[in-house]
Amino acid sequence: MCQCCCSAEPVVDPKAQKLAGVFSKYRGEKGALIPVLQAAQEIYGYLPKEVLESIARELKMPLSKVYGVVTFYAQFHLKPRGRYVIRVCQGTACHVRGASQIMEALQEKLAIKDGETTTDLKFTLESVACLGACGLAPVMMVNDETHGRLTKDVVLKILEQYE
Ligand code: FES
Repeated sequence: MCQCCCSAEPVVDPKAQKLAGVFSKYRGEKGALIPVLQAAQEIYGYLPKEVLESIARELKMPLSKVYGVVTFYAQFHLKPRGRYVIRVCQGTACHVRGASQIMEALQEKLAIKDGETTTDLKFTLESVACLGACGLAPVMMVNDETHGRLTKDVVLKILEQYE
């Protein structure tokens, strides 16, 4: 029960509850840091400072070590990410077929730069190396969906699908 004048039950944060479940699953296990970080990122969408602090506390390790791992691996994110992550290929095949113009069109439309997220947390834009679909160059992915043979117009149409 909360300590204020009302008799309401305390509000339980469902994300914090899930994280507590992750901690109990990995408690005492060696090499738990990476799976715990992955699970925490799955829950929060990124790794907020408070979450990293509680991970350090739970796993009884220095916060600097947790940060060291998070900043070493590209899979971990310290800033909020968009609901849709757009990865624009800048590999050779895509580059010669106009990947830079595709990136420019997206930057202009979303008003963000490479590596940034829109303020409404809808889109994150990233340039990446070869996505393995060179035959479809230029290529981008939106979350798990691949879009190929892109032109500026096609890209803008594709964006509308995610509005
Ligand atoms: S270079 Fe773009 S998919 Fe391979």
